[in-house]
Amino acid sequence: MMSSRLPRVKLNNGILMPLIGFGTYKIQGNDTVSMVLDAALAAGYRAIDTASVYKNEESIGACLSKLLPKYNLKRDDIFITSKLAPRDQGNGKCREAFQQSLSRLGLEYLDLYLIHWPGSSDMKPQDKRNRELRQQSWYEMESLIGEGKVKAIGISNYHPQHLKELLGYCKIRPAVLQNEHHPHLIQKEVMDLCFANNIHYQAYSSLGTSAKDNPVLSDPVIQKIAEKYEKSVAQILLRWAVQHDVGIIPKSTNPEHIADNCKVFDFQLSAEDLDKIDLLNKQHHYCWNASEVF
Ligand SMILES: NC(=O)c1ccc[n+]([C@@H]2O[C@H](COP(=O)([O-])OP(=O)(O)OC[C@H]3O[C@@H](n4cnc5c(N)ncnc54)[C@H](OP(=O)(O)O)[C@@H]3O)[C@@H](O)[C@H]2O)c1
Repeated sequence: MMSSRLPRVKLNNGILMPLIGFGTYKIQGNDTVSMVLDAALAAGYRAIDTASVYKNEESIGACLSKLLPKYNLKRDDIFITSKLAPRDQGNGKCREAFQQSLSRLGLEYLDLYLIHWPGSSDMKPQDKRNRELRQQSWYEMESLIGEGKVKAIGISNYHPQHLKELLGYCKIRPAVLQNEHHPHLIQKEVMDLCFANNIHYQAYSSLGTSAKDNPVLSDPVIQKIAEKYEKSVAQILLRWAVQHDVGIIPKSTNPEHIADNCKVFDFQLSAEDLDKIDLLNKQHHYCWNASEVF
């Protein structure tokens, strides 16, 4: 993989993954996707986070194949994550959905494939069959690893009960758990399980989601810390995550923000300021909450 100045983390299967990736939820259409990916590659991002449900895999694939030569990059210089949609959980459907994502992206392999959600859209959250279906999906994903179609597999939106259950039957341990994570939502129990089992914890919605005037970006405590370090609030939020060994995938459609968001590796928050931010936790999900999924 061609080096970028941005740090990478070694996953539990030895694969290197950039600690910062570019989030693409709600970014659609070839023109917008091309503009943001161009800005992201220019800034040094080498990882892209997408999902079947984001309906942008086709645009990302088409734009990447045009943009990579501009930056003298090859496929294996880029780390691409996609996710299994809740409607595609279970035997046969998972494999088929994976192949469709691969083909929409125009790729021969994915770097990381995640179960997007522990439930299935065909079932009520309390339905016990959710558990069976996600287990079937996991075994299919393990076989995709064996076939060399994906380098690493993981999960998303998993609560402690979902992760403990998976650790009980998996033959391949998940490499990554991607969960909502910001100062208003620190899911300590599942994070500790990840750290204890060498599963990389990756934050989504680090900036509090795309909601206008979201309470994370406008938190006065973080705003004050940002003034002190002469950084943006977004940079403080992202730095706080990486200083806790958590990966980040900020999303933006503003080229200045895209560039600023990866300038978080050349300063340190003091232990005191990290503690101040930790104390803001109020267990509040601004995105999705799968705690009731059986
Ligand atoms: N696994 C899952 O279930 C799941 C769920 C949600 C998200 N995700 C992934 O995580 C990624 C990030 O989460 P997210 O999309 O919810 O949003 P996010 O990264 O928390 O926040 C995006 C918002 O922050 C703003 N922003 C970005 N940089 C900024 C800066 N430097 N200063 C001020 N505002 C800034 C953006 O506006 P501008 O465009 O104006 O910069 C946008 O409104 C997603 O795109 C997706 O890839 C995964």
